[in-house]
Amino acid sequence: MKSIIIQFGGTGDLALKKLYPAYARLLEKGYDFHVLALGRRYADRSEFVKAMITKDESNTMLTRLDYLMYDMEEPSAPNILSERLCSLIGEHNEVELIYYLALQPSLYEDAIRQIQQADAAVGCNCTLHKKIVVEKPFGFDLESAQRYNQILETAFTDKEIFRVDHYLGKEFMQNLLVMRFHNDIIRSIWDNRSIESIQIIFDETHGVDQRLGFYERIGVVRDTIQNHIMQIITYLTMNEPATLSSEDIAIEKVKVLRAISPIEDFSMGRYESLGALSGKVVDTPTYAAFKLSVNTYYFAGIPIYVRTGKMQKEAKSLIYVKFKNTTKKVMHDASIHENAVIITIHPELTIDISMNLKEPNTPWKSKPVRFRFNQAETFGANTPEAYEQIVEKILQSDKSLFPSMREIKEAWRIVSPMLDDKHPKEVYPIRTLPRFAAHMADRDKFVWFD
Ligand code: BG6
Repeated sequence: MKSIIIQFGGTGDLALKKLYPAYARLLEKGYDFHVLALGRRYADRSEFVKAMITKDESNTMLTRLDYLMYDMEEPSAPNILSERLCSLIGEHNEVELIYYLALQPSLYEDAIRQIQQADAAVGCNCTLHKKIVVEKPFGFDLESAQRYNQILETAFTDKEIFRVDHYLGKEFMQNLLVMRFHNDIIRSIWDNRSIESIQIIFDETHGVDQRLGFYERIGVVRDTIQNHIMQIITYLTMNEPATLSSEDIAIEKVKVLRAISPIEDFSMGRYESLGALSGKVVDTPTYAAFKLSVNTYYFAGIPIYVRTGKMQKEAKSLIYVKFKNTTKKVMHDASIHENAVIITIHPELTIDISMNLKEPNTPWKSKPVRFRFNQAETFGANTPEAYEQIVEKILQSDKSLFPSMREIKEAWRIVSPMLDDKHPKEVYPIRTLPRFAAHMADRDKFVWFD
């Protein structure tokens, strides 16, 4: 069967930085597909290839890459697309068309309508299969997400729809489930009898001025919290799925999300120079801190503190799970440290277990020491990139790494109070943590993990 990936947003940041390298690696691995990049920026394939493809792209990728200058605003666009598809399909008997939307959410509705038109016009004698892949954020809010979904479902069955959150393709996410469900020592401590609190810290050093056109309408809540952060929370707190099928995983994730109330305890900020490159003041949130809890039998009462955003001094992505410390009381020693599990994603993928052990030459004095797993040291540097895993699953028609529509809807409900444009934003100088993050820690008497 011939597979063709039709790349909407084919000259955009995501396609260039993440998708084309992933396609190149999958072709090297032996997958067989063609890519038709759609974009407005370049007149023809040679211009596109010259401008877009770096030296790293394999030759195979170049032989499989085609380009179509495509302006979604042109009424003739769907016909132009169907004509090109017909010529790519040629004499093949069986073809799979994978429409990949790497676009602003505001363009989804148009794109889907155009796909429907183009699809209907692809007249050929072959058996045609199709899939549609939609990037996050899926919608702007609950209402638009539902609307997009209705439109999608008029043209595609649920099996054919892949809603992407690339965090589900990350090794650390999959490892969270293996760590939790394949280890009895973890199983017996992973609930509100043992866990005191959880911190999720995702600080990034880059800003968003280079992609302000996308980001200024999106902001940190739609960009990473509604999707990546909510998915991390489900993996940290879901019950074991009955099987590893996508349906059973989704059932457990939905249970977690339904047990989270809309987030009311939050603060937001934007970095001072946001928009300066384009000479305007943009009041889009680029940083947020919030607190929530998952009110299920095993996790109720554990505060989950999250802080995430752009233009920070240090790139730091980690999950810090702090355990209760009753030994302090039992041993009458307030200096005993808490046990913790620390999953670090950036700069390196590591998992640490922090325990107290005896410090030599002292009478019974303990010191917290770390037992460390380092992904690269143990397994080498061959862990596939998130997008490689995501695209591979799409090619295999395996939906286990994709959020279901129910999850997406629940996540929009949870973040809805944070979507209010009028909510005050602290303006923070670049490379500094907004003050509200420290205030939250002072108020709740915890210390952000460093
Ligand atoms: C993307 C967001 O989905 O995820 C970016 O749009 C963010 O703003 C990125 O920087 C983080 O992903 P990763 O894979 O770099 O951790």
